[in-house]
Amino acid sequence: MHSFNTEQSKHLKLYMRITIFSFILFASLAYNTTAQTSFFKQEELVKTGVYYYPEQWDKTQWDRDFRNMKSLGFGFTHFAEFAWAMLEPDEGKYDFTWLDEAVRLAKKNGLKVIMCTPTAAPPVWLTQKYPEVLIVKEDGIRAKHGGREHYSWSSAKYWELSEKIILQMAKHYGNDSTIIGWQIDNEPSHYGTVDYGEEVLKHFQSWLQKKYTSIDSLNIAWGTSFWSQRYASFNQIILPNAKTNVQSVNPHARLDFQRFNALECSKFVSFQARLLKQQINTTQWVTTNFMQFHSKVDPWLNDKDLDFLAYTIYPVSGGYTNMGAVGEQGFRMGSPTKIAFANDFFRYKKKFTAVMELQPGQINWGIYNPQTYPGIIRAWLWSAYTGGCKLICSYRYRQPLFGDEQYHYGMVTSDGVTPNVGGREYSQFMQEIQTLRTHFTSNAQMPKDYANRKTAILWNWDNYWDTEILPETYKWNPAKVIFKFHRSLKELNCPVDFISEDMDFANYPTIVAPMYQLVDDKLIDKLTTYVNNGGHLVLTARAGQKDRNGHLWELPYGKKIEALTGNKLLFFDLLPDDKLGSISINNQSFSWNNWADVLEPLAGTETIATFTNQFYSSKAAATSKKMGKGTVSYIGVDTDDGKFEKAALAASYKKARINLNSLPDGLMVDWRDGFWVAVNYSSDNIPVDIPKNAKIIFGNQLLGPAEVVVWK
Ligand code: GAL
Repeated sequence: MHSFNTEQSKHLKLYMRITIFSFILFASLAYNTTAQTSFFKQEELVKTGVYYYPEQWDKTQWDRDFRNMKSLGFGFTHFAEFAWAMLEPDEGKYDFTWLDEAVRLAKKNGLKVIMCTPTAAPPVWLTQKYPEVLIVKEDGIRAKHGGREHYSWSSAKYWELSEKIILQMAKHYGNDSTIIGWQIDNEPSHYGTVDYGEEVLKHFQSWLQKKYTSIDSLNIAWGTSFWSQRYASFNQIILPNAKTNVQSVNPHARLDFQRFNALECSKFVSFQARLLKQQINTTQWVTTNFMQFHSKVDPWLNDKDLDFLAYTIYPVSGGYTNMGAVGEQGFRMGSPTKIAFANDFFRYKKKFTAVMELQPGQINWGIYNPQTYPGIIRAWLWSAYTGGCKLICSYRYRQPLFGDEQYHYGMVTSDGVTPNVGGREYSQFMQEIQTLRTHFTSNAQMPKDYANRKTAILWNWDNYWDTEILPETYKWNPAKVIFKFHRSLKELNCPVDFISEDMDFANYPTIVAPMYQLVDDKLIDKLTTYVNNGGHLVLTARAGQKDRNGHLWELPYGKKIEALTGNKLLFFDLLPDDKLGSISINNQSFSWNNWADVLEPLAGTETIATFTNQFYSSKAAATSKKMGKGTVSYIGVDTDDGKFEKAALAASYKKARINLNSLPDGLMVDWRDGFWVAVNYSSDNIPVDIPKNAKIIFGNQLLGPAEVVVWK
């Protein structure tokens, strides 16, 4: 028998490692490209479709509805995410005849179909026979039948029953060429309700056991010597629940519980994706419709299981979600960066995304529900396209005549046939896309100036959760922090990608890491190398204060990242609503009252902003320094309006010698597939800066409110 000597076997091992590594690299690259090319052709630009609920309408209307849907310009429809009771009317008794008929009629009218797993709304026989599948709310009350998303992700019984219906559906439709893809569940999130049931507790205990191995490690990580909270074994651990405590709940336990909950949700999605993929044809893709930005789940955890990540979005839902709208009519248009944020967040590693639900016009569930501004639905569609959506689906074709969402517009009015504002504006967009396809050329390169501004936002939910758990001031709002930085970047016309710590930093000239409170040596080293090699890093208030367990470092404030920031962090200050701190940057004055890191720059660090009142007047509020071939800037202040952060960002890019393009308030300008698209979210006319030699494909250089101009 031939035997290898040590040297030979070392080489063989190395060779095998390289081969395996190259194979994995190649396979993953190939996978990403295949995902793009086999499901979506670049020259097709975007596919459009709309939800339909056959189970809610008279059978005799289906054919007519699909015909009208098609003539509006839609290419596909979307079925069954709430149809479990109709698909399995009794345990183990399936009825697909009605859905078969709907699929047949959709096909007959030239439409493709997105099929959904129906697990978001279990039938009554199920919840009454197996009540243990329902979540237990914070107050100990178990949910009852009705509504949706009230099942437990952690219930073994629910997994078992879900598996049965999913396999039946996958076998039935997995080889049907009318079905283009699958949506799992609906907006997996429990809409923010946390499950406190018995099975969750068991899962939490064993997750902790796996994570910490010994109870002593958990005691250290959770700091249980504080207030006599020490545990002797994993089965003594209870679920962190504010309702069952008198004063407060251990913050480290809460952080772990957040991580665990996000994982439990992702496991349920991933379990469904695996089931589907065992059965379905490889031409059918699998995704789910995550809510736009929901702090109880982490969509990125499912990036590997799903062919792409998709989101749902309602830009004008009255009050709370159109934060940051511009001008007098902005409340009818929504924030200029709301769709952009979702695009940038959900493209993630696949580099493209999809909107599964986009607002069709007036809706019913906001705190008030205004009419949308004429033209803005079409403008949203352009924002979705330009931010990387390869598929856009609207919610929903027909306006419901009964149920919780009665006043929610559809593409057609309540008569079921007359196109409503959404139907008309979608139709226009779909015609425009057809024209745009004729102008498409492959291999268009991102314009250089724009590519130089490319910025990554480094993201990890831990920072969001930990700063939310111990906010230090009632004015701390981690969602607003991230929205403000993203918005400033878009207003400075930077293309933005959200990235995670495991990704390649070198792809980005600049990285902004907002409120990056939880760090470790590995991350600090990675960031240091990035900057030394020429990257530009922007850190912001609260950066590096704690370790990954959420413990403060046993060091002076700021010391852990001092070599990176070039600052001494003297202290931070917090103010009430009626007291304003003031800061000056380039002789421009700004005010704050949320959060201020008060800095003392070390040798070699320049001050870019200075406090101008309070007892620390003249101390630094933002700084920048050169390091290796790159720069590190630090923006230590969090304000309500984000104006200071934007000015400090602009100053940091200037230090990095990157040209910005400051856009007028409310104007968004993006590039995709060789086309520039400008959308006006303001209430005024805005002249758009379009080069003389450009070819305008749609729209005018002077852009009215909610108008769009596309040029090449
Ligand atoms: C979404 C949900 C849909 C529908 C819609 C109404 O959040 O996923 O099922 O309820 O809102 O706007």
